[in-house]
Amino acid sequence: MRATAPRPLLLLLLLPLLTGAAPAPAPVPYDQDAAARQIAVILERLGERRLLAANQAFTGVTIAPTSPAERYLRIMDEAFSRSLGVDCVHCHDPQDWARDAKHKFGVARAMWAMVYSINQDQLRKIEGLDRKARVNCTTCHRGRLKPALDLD
Ligand code: HEC
Ligand code: HEC
Repeated sequence: MRATAPRPLLLLLLLPLLTGAAPAPAPVPYDQDAAARQIAVILERLGERRLLAANQAFTGVTIAPTSPAERYLRIMDEAFSRSLGVDCVHCHDPQDWARDAKHKFGVARAMWAMVYSINQDQLRKIEGLDRKARVNCTTCHRGRLKPALDLD
């Protein structure tokens, strides 16, 4: 009875509608020009304060606090946005960059700490490795929010 086969699948697809659960919105993909524009607006607003350390130029900084503000924004661009393949707005409200409106800061900060620990503790324990051996966000993420678990 082939005609009845698709029904469970149909029900599964309709389930979010029936239960009222909204599907998560698709992430805004990374775009180099868009990121550059957003950074330019922030730098413009900072004026000469762009030369200050990130924790003086911004309010909620815990990672790379002593990096100059401009370099800190490069970390946002390259590590946080590009390597995950998402625009700044995936984590931020551009009206208030310090506000964790989307509840994404915790995960990103924990990932930063994990990378630090892999580089400083885990890799150093492996005998026979080059001292320069390290991982970064791109090592796992490669332009995607969810790292691959297989090669397909
Ligand atoms: C994966 C999530 C994520 C993405 C994508 C991301 N950020 Fe961030 N951003 C964070 C987190 C987390 C912090 C706080 C980090 C810390 O503790 O120093 C932060 C901090 C900042 C701050 C400092 C806010 C303040 O006043 O404390 C600015 C400005 C900023 N990001 C700009 C950007 C820009 C511009 C982009 C895009 C090019 C971007 N971010 C992409 C997660 C993200
Ligand atoms: C050792 C591999 C690894 C590295 C390195 C790594 N991540 Fe992740 N990351 C993961 C895994 C695994 C997940 C969970 C994916 C899932 O939900 O299935 C994840 C999830 C995330 C998420 C949540 C994605 C979402 O759905 O919104 C963010 C944000 C994130 N990572 C940021 C970072 C940042 C920033 C770095 C670099 C500082 C980093 N990650 C480095 C493995 C890694």
